[in-house]
Amino acid sequence: MNLPIYLYGHPVLRKISTPITADYKDLPKLIADMYETMYTSEGVGLAAPQIGRNDRIVVIDADPVSDSFPECAGRKLTLINPEIEILGDDTETRSEGCLSLPGLSEKVKRTEHIRLRWVDENFQPHEEEIKGFLARIVQHECDHLEGKLYIDHISPIRKQLIKGKLADIAHARIRCDYPVRYAPKTR
Ligand code: NI
Repeated sequence: MNLPIYLYGHPVLRKISTPITADYKDLPKLIADMYETMYTSEGVGLAAPQIGRNDRIVVIDADPVSDSFPECAGRKLTLINPEIEILGDDTETRSEGCLSLPGLSEKVKRTEHIRLRWVDENFQPHEEEIKGFLARIVQHECDHLEGKLYIDHISPIRKQLIKGKLADIAHARIRCDYPVRYAPKTR
């Protein structure tokens, strides 16, 4: 089932998500819905807060960007309770977007090399060193589980420059070509 994407301004995007336990109800269905939602909206990653759930689940399919970033070829990851360890000091600045911030992209500086630990949908543990653009996607999605968005990493000047666009998203003054859930009205 395709689910609406919660947009910037919705409080669910700003909460810290809860770890998943083995008794979590309907986990396979939720994961399948998250993949369907990500593919429908043509994203390469989706975190559960973006579909309105503060649970520590991320889905990634980075293959569509593998022409530009070979490390992404065939990489499909279901991350439950992921943990990132930063390896080394190398960083890279690249343009980033987010399904919860339609129509926007900004340059974000991120660590190049990480160690990722997670459990999969069968609660089997995994550990892998990840580099490059795939490491960027993982960091972006895991930020969502901490209530963070990529715009939190940009300079105050850049943030000032996109203030109007952010307000348009938060106040439902934009159109989007995938189903969305706008922030509740505040007065
Ligand atoms: Ni995002």
